[in-house]
Amino acid sequence: MSFYPAGSFPAHRPRRLRQSPRLRQLVRETSLNAGQLVLPLFVRSGRKLRRPIAAMPGVYQLSPDELLHEAGRALEAGIPAVLLFGIPERKDARASGAYAARGIVQQAVRLLKRELPELLVITDVCLCEYMAHGHCGLVQRHKSGARILNDPTLKLLARTAVSHAEAGADMVAPSDMMDGRVRALRAELDRHGFPDTPIMAYAAKFASAFYGPFREAAESAPKFGDRRSYQMDPANASEALREVALDIQEGADLVMVKPALSCLDIVYRVKTAFGYPTAAYAVSAEYSMVKAAAAQGWIDERAVVLESLLALRRAGADIIITYAAVDAARWLKEG
Ligand code: PBG
Repeated sequence: MSFYPAGSFPAHRPRRLRQSPRLRQLVRETSLNAGQLVLPLFVRSGRKLRRPIAAMPGVYQLSPDELLHEAGRALEAGIPAVLLFGIPERKDARASGAYAARGIVQQAVRLLKRELPELLVITDVCLCEYMAHGHCGLVQRHKSGARILNDPTLKLLARTAVSHAEAGADMVAPSDMMDGRVRALRAELDRHGFPDTPIMAYAAKFASAFYGPFREAAESAPKFGDRRSYQMDPANASEALREVALDIQEGADLVMVKPALSCLDIVYRVKTAFGYPTAAYAVSAEYSMVKAAAAQGWIDERAVVLESLLALRRAGADIIITYAAVDAARWLKEG
C-alpha cells in the first residue's frame, strides 16, 4: 500500500509535527494503557507461598492467598484481567489435575471471583502442567518413539474448560494446539450451560524457544521429544493465518498470537485479515531477556518495556498478555 502516487513526494516536512509535546500527542496514532493488559499468574497449593522463578525475576508461583494479593494489586493498577496457570500437587498420564473439580485452578478461580468479582478471570486450558510427561496431549509411546493422540485429548481439554467455567471463569484460553479443540470446547461449554463463556484461542502458537522460562515456572517441560508436532513452525506465516481461520470457524471469540515481539508480522496480518479481537502474548523469555539486560544496566527497562508494548499495539494487538503488566501500568500512570 502506498499513500503517494509513484514519483510524487509528501508535501509537508514531518518534523513540523514533532515540535512540541502537545502536538506530538495530538498526532499520536497508537494508544497504550493498562486497560489493554492481561497479567499471567501461576498458582499452586499452600499458604503464604511465593516461590521465585529463577529466570523470571519478579514472577512467582503463588499460593491462593498470595495469588489473591497479586490479582488485587493488578486490578488496583488498572489491569482488567488475569490469566491463570496451575501447578498441581501430582501429575499423571491423564492430566487428572487439569479437570478435577477441586483442582488448583478451579479453587483459585472460585477464590478470585468471590473476593474480586470485578476482575476478569481467564484460565489457560492445557494439559502439559498436569501430565507426568509434560506434553499438551495424551501420548502413545511405541518402540520407535511416541505420538500425540489428538482426538482423545479433545475430550479432556473440553472437560477442563467446563470445570473452569463451573468454578466461575469468565473466559477460557486453550493453549494446547490440538486440532479441533475450539469446536470441542465450544460444544461442551454449550452443552453444560455455558453458551456465554467466550473462548480466547491461542490460534497462532509457534513452537518457540521463547517459552523456556515458562516451562520452569509451570514445571511443564516435556520429558521427551518436543512440541513441534502440534505447535507451529516459526517459518510459516500463511499457515498461521490458516490456523487462525480454523479457530474462528470453530467458534473462537478472540484469537491470540504467541510469541509476540518475534511475531509482529503475524499480529499485523491476523488483525488485518480477520478483524477479530486479537491478543499478543509477550512470553516468558521476552520478559527474561529484558530483565537480564536491565539487571546489567545495559538497557532502560521501563523505556524498553513500554516501547515493546506500544509496538505490539501498533502491529494490531488489541490485548497484550505480559508478565510486566503491573510495572507497565504503573509507568503509564506516572506518564
Ligand atoms: C501451555 C503454555 C505454554 C505457554 C503458555 N501456555 C508453554 C508451552 O507451550 O510450552 C508459554 C508462555 C510463556 O512462555 O510465557 N501449553
